[in-house]
Amino acid sequence: MTKKSRVAAAVLAASTLLTIGVQPARAENTSGTPAAGHGGHAGVPLRRVTPRDLKIGTAVAGGGHHLEQDYPDPFTYDKPYRRVLAGEFNSASPENQMKWEFIHPERNRYNFGPADAIVRFARRHGQVVRGHTLLWHSQNPAWLAEGQFSKAELRAILKQHIFTVVGRYRGQIHQWDVANEIFDGNGAYRQENIWIRELGPGIVADAFRWAHQADPRAQLFLNDYGVEWPGAKVDAYEALAEQLLADRVPLHGFASQAHLSMRYGAPDQLRAVLQRFDDLGLYTAITELDVRMDLPESGVPTAEQLTTQAQYYKTVLDACLAVDDCNSFTLWGFTDKYSWVPVFFPTEGAATVMWDDFTRKPAYETLQQTLAEARG
Ligand code: XIL
Repeated sequence: MTKKSRVAAAVLAASTLLTIGVQPARAENTSGTPAAGHGGHAGVPLRRVTPRDLKIGTAVAGGGHHLEQDYPDPFTYDKPYRRVLAGEFNSASPENQMKWEFIHPERNRYNFGPADAIVRFARRHGQVVRGHTLLWHSQNPAWLAEGQFSKAELRAILKQHIFTVVGRYRGQIHQWDVANEIFDGNGAYRQENIWIRELGPGIVADAFRWAHQADPRAQLFLNDYGVEWPGAKVDAYEALAEQLLADRVPLHGFASQAHLSMRYGAPDQLRAVLQRFDDLGLYTAITELDVRMDLPESGVPTAEQLTTQAQYYKTVLDACLAVDDCNSFTLWGFTDKYSWVPVFFPTEGAATVMWDDFTRKPAYETLQQTLAEARG
């Protein structure tokens, strides 16, 4: 740690002595005051303790499920949220704002405003951006999903979309999730993916080639959930990655989303999975980490649950730190206030590292400490 950050740490640690460790889920404190941590890093933002060859990121809340909540657009309207976003992270992933349904709502109209705002914010705050996503079965606009297009038209639509969106942010995107969730749990190509169903799996390689032409500097990724343990899905990705590389397709990385539930145990084989892709010469990344749990009747997690959650977060971070070219570690949001989890998994929640009021859970402290130790 530098002298400057030591001083900052001491000042912040002193100012946080009164803060208690565990806050109720809907605590009133909105000061964003950090809870006291262990060791000398309390109060030092994650991005300041993260090893230099790793990006520490978060999803930027907006669009998607947020549109149905009774709060305004988080990224645009929540100032304390923006402060934490800028202060803690050096990588930002638009949670929905670059998805087809959002950025390309009509056939001949793009909606770049919200994505532009995130890219601008990131530049101003010294953050890189992860682009998400170009070829996916979900969150496609109705004009596309329900349209009647010939194969040639569909191919042209995808190509034009990729050149337009990737081209717009050329030179400003660290990593693109080019293909998202293309395999099912059995390792078969998902037939609900319009591109794969209509054009065949070869379209995946084309998407990578087009993205690379549109932005030669962006690292291009395969991204999925359910790849935290070995199995048919991981095997399918490994075989695909080998094939794409053999065909000289510009594939640069493989990412585990890491949407975890405490129902299924910590992903203790994640390191081995990432290593398989590292061995192919690819970057690896964690792109959407959260750890949900079954909430007690009170709605407030027990201390034991929070400890377990912290261990899950640490298991994932340790896996990434242990693999040479795991270069990006992203949380799918940092506060429960805006988490997608309660909306999509109704009995589960509390999946992020901060409470609604941005005070920190044990998982935050554990990440901070683990990062600081790794940075040395
Ligand atoms: C989720 C968003 O968090 C929600 O706001 C939205 O309503 C649905 O999508 N895998 C992905 C992400 O790749 O894009 C998803 O994000 C979560 C699962």
